[in-house]
Amino acid sequence: MLAIDEKTITDAALDQMATTPNPRLKEIMASLVKHLHAFAREVDLTPEEWLEGIKFLTAVGQKCTEFRQEFILLSDTLGMSALVNALHDKRALEDATKSSLLGPFYRGDSATMPLGASIVGKGKQPNTVIYGRVEDSQGQGVANASVEIWQPDEEGWYDLQKNDPSEQDLRGRFYTDAEGKFYLRTIAPTGYMIPMDGPVGDMIRAQKRHGYRPAHIHFVVAAPGYREVVTAIYLTGDPHLDSDTVFGASESLVVSVNKNDSASPDPSLQSIQFDFRLASLTGEGVSGRVGADPSQILQKAAH
Ligand code: BEZ
Ligand code: FE
Repeated sequence: MLAIDEKTITDAALDQMATTPNPRLKEIMASLVKHLHAFAREVDLTPEEWLEGIKFLTAVGQKCTEFRQEFILLSDTLGMSALVNALHDKRALEDATKSSLLGPFYRGDSATMPLGASIVGKGKQPNTVIYGRVEDSQGQGVANASVEIWQPDEEGWYDLQKNDPSEQDLRGRFYTDAEGKFYLRTIAPTGYMIPMDGPVGDMIRAQKRHGYRPAHIHFVVAAPGYREVVTAIYLTGDPHLDSDTVFGASESLVVSVNKNDSASPDPSLQSIQFDFRLASLTGEGVSGRVGADPSQILQKAAH
């Protein structure tokens, strides 16, 4: 009989799981066990520490509701969501805009608006134009591409945090014109703190991290025959651009807010210009969505 000790336990566990019929599940679980065991050996994990970890993961699970996904927030703050997004981007066969986190405030049912419309609700005035083009990897415009946008306000709040879900603000869906161009009016957002009232917030405070995301505007850009791009653009000058708590901000997604931009469809307002690049579809999964499950929000809105 095998003597189980701190070295032989890994092979013992792998041997027992070798019967897994699904080859991908077998590969993932074997690697997970190897790395988990290596981690425990590396830090010489004590029973008290492991129980503390289990208590933390239990609290993360208990914080989850139909409308809140604390495990995704944990994945975000550990850099795991950004890593999975980067691996997703690497599987594309053509050049495309870099993915960034979907986050918990996406909803798939935002209103379709005509090009040039304002997404600012409740009688407030837009002061910023966002414009650009959706193009393929050869730089050709993609007509009739869907451009979904959502963002927080000047104080860092999303509509879902302030209003009943039946009331939408600072979000919308636009379709590109025959040349792949889009434009809309909005306001420039500020950065904000991720939800800090749960165990992930406790972890962030224990690590003396600030908890902020730099100012950003989210997009999902899609067209038939292309891989969907889930991303965000980040406003230059934000003090947290280099220390985004969820690692979504990245060099190629940083934009400036320009004044007197003669190329803007409305030069009287400040402007942000950004072109999205879509890669052709490959055989594998097409979505880079690591984030909220919008169906739950939609259910709430329907009640
Ligand atoms: C967001 O950008 O909306 C977000 C992303 C990850 C965690 C929290 C918020
Ligand atoms: Fe966000």
